[in-house]
Amino acid sequence: DKRPAIHIGILTVSDRCFRNEAIDESSKNLYTLIQDKRILQGNVVVTKIVPDEGDQIKSTLVEWSDQRGLSLILTTGGTGFSPRDVTPEATKAVLEKEALGMTLAMLKQSLEVTPLAMLSRLVCGIRGRTLIINLPGSVKASEECLRFVCPGIPHAIDLLK
Ligand code: MTE
Repeated sequence: DKRPAIHIGILTVSDRCFRNEAIDESSKNLYTLIQDKRILQGNVVVTKIVPDEGDQIKSTLVEWSDQRGLSLILTTGGTGFSPRDVTPEATKAVLEKEALGMTLAMLKQSLEVTPLAMLSRLVCGIRGRTLIINLPGSVKASEECLRFVCPGIPHAIDLLK
């Protein structure tokens, strides 16, 4: 198999996790889903926690795409309506192309779980050869959304190579 390895990064966006006032359960759970339960082909090679600050979100996404050349970046948190939630705006600012279909797949199936899914402003898209996917912040919502978008990820990554 000559295809390059699929390197994945998980970025937690949370003021409380950044200040150690909460444990970063969502990214641990996403890591387990990928590394142990193998719901996605690929390896998590980097994780990081940043506060809900646009500049720190953007600079991490740019570094992980342009320097580290990750295939996939999953963000968790900061997609809601509170004044500090800026993950979708920071993501949009660094994307070259949006992938509305991936967002729609998550939102459509999430709305079948809870009407509160309408409160998540998830953005997905492409920067260079990197696919960037926003997930909500809670363990439950981030796992559900990853499972919903999973069927499209391997083919998407193949096409980006
Ligand atoms: N999506 C799914 N699949 N399941 C959920 O339980 N919760 C919603 C929504 N999306 C939910 C979901 C709720 S209550 C909120 S406030 C938003 O995600 C935003 O979450 P975030 O601000 O933690 O990113």
